Amino acid sequence: MKLSCLLAVMISLSACVLPSKQELATGKQLSFQRNKGNCLACHVIEDGIDPGNIGPALIEIPQKFASKSALKAVIWDASAFNSQTSMPPFGRNKILTSEELDLVVNYIWSLSGAVQPVSKEW
Ligand code: HEC
Repeated sequence: MKLSCLLAVMISLSACVLPSKQELATGKQLSFQRNKGNCLACHVIEDGIDPGNIGPALIEIPQKFASKSALKAVIWDASAFNSQTSMPPFGRNKILTSEELDLVVNYIWSLSGAVQPVSKEW
């Protein structure tokens, strides 16, 4: 196979597997938006202004979950893993659609290092 063909195959494969910048930006927007994920109400997330701290900071997610589907399952219905949780069951209660959840999952999965909560100047 010619090198150019091999490259074309590799690029199209990575386009299927890796979320685009646009998809990550949409996932971030869905996570931050008050009437969508509103994850900042309870979680410190990189770039998030005035986050709450009811839940743990969303960092180093790939180290904590075996796969994106395991992460999705928690966001879909955290009560399936902890019956006492205060986290809303985003999928079960249809707060987010399955497609929106996939975008949120890809974004949350991309969060790696430590993060400092940012506060607005009042
Ligand atoms: C009302 C508060 C609340 C909201 C809103 C919320 N969560 Fe949570 N979340 C929690 C709590 C509390 C935990 C700790 C574990 C538990 O109680 O189930 C948690 C745990 C998690 C975890 C596991 C973290 C770890 O380090 O183990 C992830 C991932 C997560 N939440 C993602 C999200 C995402 C994504 C959103 C928005 C779509 C969100 N959460 C919205 C309260 C919330």
